[in-house]
Formats: sequence, structure tokens, C-alpha cells
Amino acid sequence: MDKTFGHRNRHYSTSRLVFWSTIFGALLMYIVFRSLRSSDSLDSSGSSSTPLHTTAKWGGKDWEQSVQISAHPRSGSHNSVLVTGAAGFVGSHVSAALKRRGDGVVGLDCFNNYYDPSLKRARQKLLAESGVFIIEGDINDSELLKKLFDLVTFTHVMHLAAQAGVRYAMKNPNSYVHSNIAGLVSIFEACKAANPQPAIIWASSSSVYGLNTKVPFSEKDRTDNPASLYAATKKAGEEIAHTYNHIYGLSITGLRFFTVYGPWGRPDMAYFFFTKDILKGKPITVYEGPAHASVARDFTFIDDIVKGCLGSLDSAEKSTGSGGKKTGPAQLRVFNLGNTSPVQVTRLVNILEGLLKVKAKKNVLPLPRNGDVLYTHANISYAMKEFGYKPTTNLEAGLKKFVKWYLDYYSVTS
Ligand SMILES: NC(=O)c1ccc[n+]([C@@H]2O[C@H](COP(=O)([O-])OP(=O)(O)OC[C@H]3O[C@@H](n4cnc5c(N)ncnc54)[C@H](O)[C@@H]3O)[C@@H](O)[C@H]2O)c1
Ligand SMILES: *[C@@H]1O[C@H](CO)[C@@H](O)[C@H](O)[C@H]1NC(C)=O
Ligand SMILES: *[C@@H]1O[C@H](CO)[C@@H](O)[C@H](O)[C@H]1NC(C)=O
Repeated sequence: MDKTFGHRNRHYSTSRLVFWSTIFGALLMYIVFRSLRSSDSLDSSGSSSTPLHTTAKWGGKDWEQSVQISAHPRSGSHNSVLVTGAAGFVGSHVSAALKRRGDGVVGLDCFNNYYDPSLKRARQKLLAESGVFIIEGDINDSELLKKLFDLVTFTHVMHLAAQAGVRYAMKNPNSYVHSNIAGLVSIFEACKAANPQPAIIWASSSSVYGLNTKVPFSEKDRTDNPASLYAATKKAGEEIAHTYNHIYGLSITGLRFFTVYGPWGRPDMAYFFFTKDILKGKPITVYEGPAHASVARDFTFIDDIVKGCLGSLDSAEKSTGSGGKKTGPAQLRVFNLGNTSPVQVTRLVNILEGLLKVKAKKNVLPLPRNGDVLYTHANISYAMKEFGYKPTTNLEAGLKKFVKWYLDYYSVTS
């Protein structure tokens, strides 16, 4: 682990009274915290009734030093990048790749418990070992962002923090507004005010194509019939990006990821929990469309997505604003990052059965109309033309790497 963690205060002269009152105070805070938390079992960032995300876990001399060391590039020709959502699936891989090639990387993540936070902690630990420090804080905390941008001159912001997931929006709609709308605006505001302004690369989603039927999906297609609140917030983000580019001269690149999977992936995604359930002998639910139409996804392996993220970062032009004012037109782009090879979910299950050497118990149900779409297929020729994006991993090869990681990480002995 990073040496900056675990520093202890060395004032041992504290009297017993202070000691016990501190213990008592901490206990009291813990009880209050628990009772707030139990009224809202899944969310730790989005609910209006729990202002837990304002709890500051940042600041102080040690913290500032960790941030500055982490932000420091290997040489003057390398970048200094703020990666939000760095403890997340895509963010952790992108952070590691940037660091490996010599860029300075500072992470920012709130470690919410939308899915098992211990997985986020394990990713954080790995990154710390390679010298990436992750700030624990919320992207909608403008005070934190101001402090951070005062401390570091970022050349780029790779904004990957978001409330992901399609069906969870019915349980906790506010978390999408909090992170994907308010949080995005806070990030853009901080970038606008910075001098020089960084270039921004951020994650939109293939879900903006919504109920479109013309395939493959192309960046020029209309995206005005989203099928979920998640998709609607990503679409809103693209429009907000347009205004910040137009008014303030921010260079902004939106990336529409298509179903990303791989090692260190997200437990809320089908390939992940299918693996878990198949190994346990638990039945899995496979959805199908009207008239037994099969559901298909353009599954994209994480290493290909990382290449797409770095390619778009390297081809991003500088922002043109200064002192919060635009001095000339700035770059505004949106790219599909997919694999251009949709695979039916039944085929996904077959591949997993082969890799796990276990037959799945399948329940086939009609696809509910609560956010998921039938089919995704990316036209990636624009990213190919602009920065040579070319995915190289098919679903069999990618799932093999995922399963290997899964069995190792969860120490499954079969
Ligand atoms: N994985 C995919 O298939 C996929 C597809 C399309 C788009 N995306 C987008 O790509 C990005 C990365 O996705 P991922 O799969 O790595 O998801 P993830 O959930 O693993 O990562 C997101 C991270 O952001 C953090 N976060 C959420 N809200 C935050 C907030 N308010 N402040 C600070 N941190 C916050 C979370 O703790 C998490 O670690 C997201 O924007 C997501 O919407 C992902
Ligand atoms: C985001 O932050 C702003 C200003 O810092 C605050 O007014 C707003 O309530 C926050 N939004 C959400 C949804 O948390
Ligand atoms: C893919 O998109 C490009 C524009 O980026 C377009 O010229 C091409 O016709 C599209 N291909 C298909 C198969 O739709």
C-alpha cells in the first residue's frame, strides 16, 4: 500500500478524559450513521434525506502532499490527469494504464455501496501500489473540486464517475440526478474556472440510442428516445457538454461505451452475476424479446475500452477558455466505443458454461420494459478514423480472462 496511508498522529500526551470522550463521541457518531444508513439500504450518495456525501474525508497537509505526488507526471511531455470514478471498473483500468505510461494520475471516488465496496477498495489498493492516490470525495462537492484544482494544474479530466445501471433507477432515481447531472455540472464548472482549463473526456453511454431500430448505431443518429432514466441523464450530459463547450470553450469528448466487461468488472452486470450464480448452481434469468427474439449486446472488452479512452485523450485538443471566458471555438466530440460484433445473451451463457464447466439452470422470461433494450451494435468507424480505435478481443477470449480473474479473486476451488 501507498506510504501516505495510515499515518498516525503522534501526540501521545492526551489525557484519559479526552481519550474516553473521543471513544464515546465516535460511538455516538457511528450509531447516528448506522440509523441514517439503515433507512436507505443501497444508496450512500444520492438520497435527499441523507447528506452523507458531504462528510469530508479530504484536506490537510498529508492529503495535499499525496495529491501532488500522485499528480506528478514522469516528464514534462506527460500529462496530469484527474480520473473520477477511479475506484470503479473502467476508472481503475484507465488510471493504471495512464500511470504505466508516465502520466500523473489523481483519482476521485466516493466509494458508494451501489455494489460491493470491498471490490472498489481492492482496486484502490492495487492502484496505490502503483502510485495512484484516490481522493475519497463526491464529484458534486464543489469545495473539494476548487481545492483540488487550486492544488494541481490538470491537463486532462477523465470523468468516469457516475451512477451506472439501468434498473436501479426505479429504486433510487435521485442518485442518477445527483451524480450524472449535478455532479457532471460541478465537474464542468471546476474545469471552466481552472486556468489553464483542462480538456475533458467523459463517459456517456450506448444507452442514449434507446429504442432506435436502425443498426449499427452511429454517432449521427438521433438519440431522443431513451428507455431509462440512466440513459436520459447520459443524454442530458451530452447536451450540457454542448453548452459548456459553446459558452466557455471547454474541449469535451463524450464516449458512448457499449457493455464493457472483463477482469475487475461490475457485479451488477449480467456476465458477472451469471458466473456467480452458475457456479452456485442457482438458476439464472435470461430475457427474450417479443416472439422469442433474443437479446443481444455489443460486448466490449475492457482493454479495448482503455485503448479507446487513451486514444481519445491523446487526440483531444486544448480547451480555449481563460478566466472563465471562451477565446475561440473548442473541440466537441462524441465517439462510440464498441466491439461491432453483437452477441446473443444465450451465446454468452453457453460460453460461460464452457469456461466454468457447469451447466446453467436457465429461466427464460420476457424482457421487462424497465430500461433494457433488445439490441446494441456500434458503428465505430468515427473513432477508427480519428485515433485508430480497433477492438481486438472477441467475447470468448475476453470472458476467458474474466473467468480466470473471477476464480482467482473469489478463491473458487471447483
Ligand atoms: N461498464 C459499462 O458497461 C458501461 C457502459 C456504458 C457507460 N458506462 C459509463 O462508464 C463509466 C464507468 O462505469 P463503470 O462500469 O466503471 O462503473 P462503476 O460503477 O464501476 O464506476 C463508477 C465509479 O464512480 C463512483 N461514483 C459514483 N458516483 C459518484 C459521485 N457522486 N462522486 C464520486 N464518485 C462517484 C463509484 O463509487 C464507482 O466507483 C460510468 O460513467 C458509466 O455510466 C459504463
Ligand atoms: C450538488 O451541489 C450543489 C452545489 O454545490 C448543491 O446545491 C446541490 O444540491 C447538489 N445536488 C445534488 C443533487 O446533490
Ligand atoms: C458508419 O458511420 C460512418 C460515419 O462515421 C458512415 O459513413 C458509415 O456509412 C456508417 N456505416 C454503416 C454500416 O452504417
